[in-house]
Amino acid sequence: MTDQRSQSTVPEPAAPRLGILLQGMGAVASTVVAGVFAARRGLGLPVGSLTQMAHIRLGKRTDQNNPFIKDFVPLTDMDGLVFGGWDIFGGDLYDACAQAKVLEPALIEQLADELRGVRPMAGAFDPAYVKRLHGTHIKPGTRRDWAEAVREDIRTFMRAHDLDRCVLINCSSTEIYIEEGPPHQSMEAFERALDADDHSISPAMIYAYAAIMEGVPYANGTPSLAADVPALLALADENRVPLAGKDFKTGQTMMKTVLAPMFKARMLGVHGWFSTNILGNRDGEVLDEPDNFKSKEKTKLGVLDTILQPALHHDLYGSLYHKVRINYYPPRGDAKEGWDNIDIFGWLGYPMQIKVDFLCRDSILAAPIVLDLALFLDLAQRAGKQGVQEWLSFYWKSPVTAPSVYPEHDLFIQLTKLKNNLRHMMGAELITHLGTEYYER
Ligand SMILES: NC(=O)c1ccc[n+]([C@@H]2O[C@H](COP(=O)([O-])OP(=O)(O)OC[C@H]3O[C@@H](n4cnc5c(N)ncnc54)[C@H](O)[C@@H]3O)[C@@H](O)[C@H]2O)c1
Repeated sequence: MTDQRSQSTVPEPAAPRLGILLQGMGAVASTVVAGVFAARRGLGLPVGSLTQMAHIRLGKRTDQNNPFIKDFVPLTDMDGLVFGGWDIFGGDLYDACAQAKVLEPALIEQLADELRGVRPMAGAFDPAYVKRLHGTHIKPGTRRDWAEAVREDIRTFMRAHDLDRCVLINCSSTEIYIEEGPPHQSMEAFERALDADDHSISPAMIYAYAAIMEGVPYANGTPSLAADVPALLALADENRVPLAGKDFKTGQTMMKTVLAPMFKARMLGVHGWFSTNILGNRDGEVLDEPDNFKSKEKTKLGVLDTILQPALHHDLYGSLYHKVRINYYPPRGDAKEGWDNIDIFGWLGYPMQIKVDFLCRDSILAAPIVLDLALFLDLAQRAGKQGVQEWLSFYWKSPVTAPSVYPEHDLFIQLTKLKNNLRHMMGAELITHLGTEYYER
């Protein structure tokens, strides 16, 4: 029997304080910061967060040993979190909460002093990448200047708050769809492109570059092309920095990654899957622009093919028609509505339909993901992990993987993987559900 303990690197203890830098301080970012402030004061529970609320089973079911994850792996306590970040509009996080209209005004008032204390630093911004926004709080100069300024911001933030550890999470507007090109293939080419102010280096890549150069773990909550280019992946390996991405898996796609594995597990066919959304927040406004929507469409569409494997199951999924729409509808604000019409078929091809109408709240679903990613990425770094953290696929619409493998999208396989990684890190026995493996590949 393999000694799992000898293969794992037990993480160093957590620091009492951890910096969380948020690139983009809009609806998601302000909701996570206000939520942590509220939870610390007992004004609400951090619902949706595995690091705060989930248990992990250790040993056999008969052992009845199910500690909280936060008591099993060393994580910084919510009381020790310090927030900062960047935005292309000024103000502070009280203003951002008021603008986002996610949380009740009465709660925002109760947290006003703390929220007023967090003021975004000026953003690195190129309007060609987010066409609907006209930023006013932006860094001057070239791409090289922006990269140096963001690096300096990270150092200043850490010094000002006397922090030894920090993570950076991209919660910024979705950028236009771009494909990787020659400047993204190696660090030499990337550095040359920064010097030349080459426009194929996106603002999202500049934040990712700055984080990796500073040894700060980085996650991309948006569909934008950022750390997932060969140059930055190699830099992360070299600088021993953990990465994760991309595009938070929250509403409709989370549903999809639960329902699609069910169809496949039961060998039920799917003819078509039509998904549409209405939302009226700033994210919806940005995604109303076709080039920005294309980035989101890519991450949303990829899911079904990898779960259903139409090449293997041609009779069931070979002709699947999958369509995703996002409609900007201001009256809804952050309270998105996502409809799915799923045309499935069973025995002898007889058709059936499923309709899903998810009246969700985008930022309420995304906030706990940001908190978990920050704490788990810091844990990963203390456990000596670097590069893409596939065990965090659970949180992503489009999990970044090694080039040689396809991403795992099934939510429950992702959860098993996440928990087994935590067990492995701590030298505990892995749980393999021997003989009852439901999710066969
Ligand atoms: N809420 C969800 O459920 C969810 C799920 C998946 C992905 N996302 C993604 O997360 C991101 C944030 O969503 P949101 O609802 O908070 O959007 P938002 O529009 O409220 O916030 C984004 C913020 O980023 C700022 N910004 C834009 N470009 C910037 C730059 N270059 N530097 C610094 N700041 C910049 C904007 O001014 C804005 O305040 C979006 O890309 C969205 O697609 C959200």
